[in-house]
Amino acid sequence: MSSTIQPLHNKQAIRALLQRFDHTPRAHVQSFGCQLNVCDGEKYKGVLADLGYQLTDTPEDADVILFNTCAVRAHAESRVLGRLGALKSLWEKNHDLIIGLCGCMAEEEEVRAQIRKSYPYVRMILSAGAMEHLPEALLQVYQGDPRHIITDLTGIPSEMLPTVRESDFKASVPVMYGCNNFCTYCIVPYVRGRERSRMPDAIEAEVRALVEAGYKEILLLGQNVNSYGKDLAEPFDFPALLRRLDAIEGDYFIRFMSSHPKDATTELIDVMLNSTHIEHHLHLPVQSGSDSVLQAMNRRYTASQYLELIDETRAKAPDFSFSSDLIVGFPTETEADFEATLRLIAHVKYDNLYTFIYSPRPGTKAADLPQCSDEEAISARMQRLLHVQRTLSEEFNRRFIGRCCTVLIEKYDPQSRKATGKNREGMNVELPCADDLTGNMVTVRITDAKNWALVGELREA
Ligand code: SAM
Ligand code: SF4
Ligand code: F3S
Repeated sequence: MSSTIQPLHNKQAIRALLQRFDHTPRAHVQSFGCQLNVCDGEKYKGVLADLGYQLTDTPEDADVILFNTCAVRAHAESRVLGRLGALKSLWEKNHDLIIGLCGCMAEEEEVRAQIRKSYPYVRMILSAGAMEHLPEALLQVYQGDPRHIITDLTGIPSEMLPTVRESDFKASVPVMYGCNNFCTYCIVPYVRGRERSRMPDAIEAEVRALVEAGYKEILLLGQNVNSYGKDLAEPFDFPALLRRLDAIEGDYFIRFMSSHPKDATTELIDVMLNSTHIEHHLHLPVQSGSDSVLQAMNRRYTASQYLELIDETRAKAPDFSFSSDLIVGFPTETEADFEATLRLIAHVKYDNLYTFIYSPRPGTKAADLPQCSDEEAISARMQRLLHVQRTLSEEFNRRFIGRCCTVLIEKYDPQSRKATGKNREGMNVELPCADDLTGNMVTVRITDAKNWALVGELREA
């Protein structure tokens, strides 16, 4: 990583260079993958706008195109490579076009080799979270460096980085970066580095400013938020952070993800239940219901330890909502293991389930295990899983019928005059609405339940 050029010098030098364009230079940023990556994308946009670029949604009219990538599954990577391939025709028409690859794929050696070989027109490669190095990389490319590469997985992004947010009522706030867990299937620790926490004061200041600016949903992000603060000079834990943020006055919800089940505690649940703003919903990725698969995944909990927290929570708050991630077709998964997963989901009754077919990631431990090649069997398991989940969630969602909930309206379709939003349990709610109330908190009476959403009617605007 080059650190000889000062950030301020880079900024001024680029602004001077952009003055020479015969039009306002335009930049296009496309983020793939998880919310954390989307959040980095908002900062890439902020840095580009601050340098003087006009942001554009279309790559065709851009002078700089940045792909902020995801490496979690092979499919995510091939999508990005396909889109990069499609950019070749733009570069052939305009050799001044700067195309950059950043995010999680940029950290993989095989991807870099592939870029070197087959994508000569990709001129910047920046590792995940390297937003403040963008001016330096751009300057080097403008000054004739054929391809500038920056890798840095150690620091945390500067608190001073400008941000262009995707929404004006929902905001993502990272509390930590990286992961120490090394689940055997997962590439994230390799491409995002070790856990680094932001200072509590900086997080509180950001959330306070967002609430004051009228944001209604604050989504706290980290690969395992329950590890928050362990690396700080003065350790500070996640429940303590939640208590501090919940004390900020205003009309808003706090959500967060993800929680690793090995670190989720009764204290965390109690803070949520006793809070004013924190949702009564926990995204608690279980991955499998079989102890032997969990062990092979290095998840460090058993199915019964996982269920203990669920049962304890529901004993205190029967409506509390859980969602989860599940992997189907992990290399050691047998039919009996899969059935244990079905039993687990029947017990928990998740409101939402994110299901993934296992994708071997080069460099991870599970990629060295003998892989299951029976795609038909895996896809049949996935279908069974989805069927069970659909049936269960419709039945479980019915617990809200007849009740009133506070809903943050997120979308409005003027044609059908239907609004959609989320309640405090994080569940989707649909309702007919004469006006566009997007970004407002409203009271809704729930009249029906589908497997994908609750259906209701507006009580007051
Ligand atoms: N840090 C979060 C956690 O532990 O819950 C998850 C982050 S990961 C980006 C999101 C989900 O992708 C994981 O929970 C897992 O279900 C899934 N995933 C990760 N690696 C995968 C792989 N190699 N194949 C299929 N799914 C995978
Ligand atoms: Fe990946 Fe596991 Fe870390 Fe989540 S906790 S990011 S699944 S290694
Ligand atoms: Fe993908 Fe990186 Fe997120 S691998 S899921 S974008 S942390």
